[in-house]
Amino acid sequence: METSRKLRRAAYILGIVVLILLVAYGALAWSLYSSSGSFSTAEAEYPAPRIGELIWPTVGYPAMVTPGGLLEIELDLRDVAGERVQAEDVSGWRVVMKPSRQVLAGLAYTLVPTGAQRAVSDRWPEGTRFGKPDAVWHASFRVPAEVVPELYDLHVEVEASGRLVSDSQPHAVSVTTDDDDSFTFVSLADIHVHRRDISGRMQQQTDKGISPEGRPVYFENAIEQVNLIRPDFVVLLGDFVRAQHEPGDYQVEFEEFYRALEGFEVPVFAVPGNHDVYVNEVDGARVWEENLGPLYYSFDVGGCHFTCVDTNQWPVGDRTVMKKLGMFVYPKKWQGQVLEAGDEGDPSTYEGQLAWMREDLAANRDSPLKFVLLHHCPFTPDGEGISYDNERFAGVVSLGGNGKGRDALKKLASTYDVDIVLSGHLHQDNVGSAPWADGGGETVYANQTCVYYDEGGIQEKYPGYRLFKIVGGRVESFTYVDGVHSIPFYDGSSLGGKTDLDQLDRPALSARRVEGVETATLQWEVESYLAIPMEVKGLIAVLPGDGGERYDVRGGEIYQEVLVGNPGRVVLYVKTEVEKGKPGIDASIPGTPARKDVTVVQTGAGPGSGLTYGTVIYLPYMLSSSGKKVLSRAE
Ligand SMILES: [Fe+2]
Repeated sequence: METSRKLRRAAYILGIVVLILLVAYGALAWSLYSSSGSFSTAEAEYPAPRIGELIWPTVGYPAMVTPGGLLEIELDLRDVAGERVQAEDVSGWRVVMKPSRQVLAGLAYTLVPTGAQRAVSDRWPEGTRFGKPDAVWHASFRVPAEVVPELYDLHVEVEASGRLVSDSQPHAVSVTTDDDDSFTFVSLADIHVHRRDISGRMQQQTDKGISPEGRPVYFENAIEQVNLIRPDFVVLLGDFVRAQHEPGDYQVEFEEFYRALEGFEVPVFAVPGNHDVYVNEVDGARVWEENLGPLYYSFDVGGCHFTCVDTNQWPVGDRTVMKKLGMFVYPKKWQGQVLEAGDEGDPSTYEGQLAWMREDLAANRDSPLKFVLLHHCPFTPDGEGISYDNERFAGVVSLGGNGKGRDALKKLASTYDVDIVLSGHLHQDNVGSAPWADGGGETVYANQTCVYYDEGGIQEKYPGYRLFKIVGGRVESFTYVDGVHSIPFYDGSSLGGKTDLDQLDRPALSARRVEGVETATLQWEVESYLAIPMEVKGLIAVLPGDGGERYDVRGGEIYQEVLVGNPGRVVLYVKTEVEKGKPGIDASIPGTPARKDVTVVQTGAGPGSGLTYGTVIYLPYMLSSSGKKVLSRAE
């Protein structure tokens, strides 16, 4: 009798305790979920806008042109008179292209204007910073036939409403001779430039690859490998910064990201990810438009079409980072969302970006290859599009998600015969496919791993990139070895296994300039741990010369030669192919790299004869480019 009373009493107490725990858990959950967090947007400081009057081309949405072709630019001159009225009398166009590459300083091309008119922007579907413009200035210019195939900064001057307006954009124009349907590009996702000092907090973050000064060394190393490959262009699939801890993170990280961007020697097309448009105290979408370009747009290369989509269409209040109980920090909505489908299964009901996308894809239906670039894949890994799902804390508390639009995106891809959809966000490689509505083919959905080291430690992923080889308007290859994975940036990365990210330090592809070799000789040691042969086109060197020199090249070939100054310097573009290496099976056990020695020896006469190698290296930095006659010679 006594025992049974004790048991009843114990059960009663246990019940009370469970009830208290449930109430406490519910209160905690509610406090995590309900309020908008403690990051104020009131005192926000924005980076100074880098996009002014010249609204296209931009650093994140460059122009691809051919020698002798036309460059069409867009200018928004509405703030010239301070009245937000488009300037009417515009004259005295002066447009100059200067190579972004330091060693070509001295080359400059002044373009000949061929016409200007006011019209709705072709490049900013939602309009510029002042809203949707009814008319911006479109001006076209003839690109000189002798222009060197390179990446250029663009400088524009114009007289508008009696005032001289001048503006510029770095890395805005790429001149390529590859106007056929064969080209290469590299895709990178989830760079997440972050502050070094946030490691070890609630949200773990490795410090690997961040210098004591805060420079994203791991990103710079990735850029170095991309520059060695020298693809025709790069696409960035979103999440360039971290911006998820304290107020001020965003601005610092964005500045570091933008600075690192200038290290690319090829043009970059950028697509926004959730971290880029996050708010902890600024509106990242505004920062994007003021510094990189439009949030969505399209472009063409070699007759192939690329549609870039913004999958972060949450209201600004939802694109907010929350801080709870002084320790929990997370974004409210970081999953994908694309708005304005009346009925996702019926494209005729689409408005806004989706309607623009429908028209863009319809207009380019006959393009031999159609890519859609976005951050949140509507499909992966097995068709469910988990990047649009809701996420829950402890399986109970909604952390935000349940985004709209994944079915609409899939519908557009299948209706308009999209060949490939590229995405990031999940930090994982996976490849799937879905048939086109007309049965004539399928859309490949390729999600890819990140560039950064994630949280560090042992992970089922590694920093990597995809390299697309397009031959004759068809994708020849885009995966590494197994049809799924990305090319690793470091030796010792394990495909499909586990990789100790903290141990990665051997670049999978590298080229070292050999010092102390003979007079007027250049030598590189190219090394690859990769299990595939790699074409390396980014061996760039400078020799003194006047263009009369001859070179003997071993292990590679000179594919472009540019004379800067007269007499001055010769910039040589050398390419080679390195055979496949033997990758290390583990980050701590190095593989055996394939090596290729590339040597350039000056054989014919020229002012370089007799100069030492040291002179050769430093000469370009000692030469003044001003006042010299500039010649260029390119294949
Ligand atoms: Fe993301």
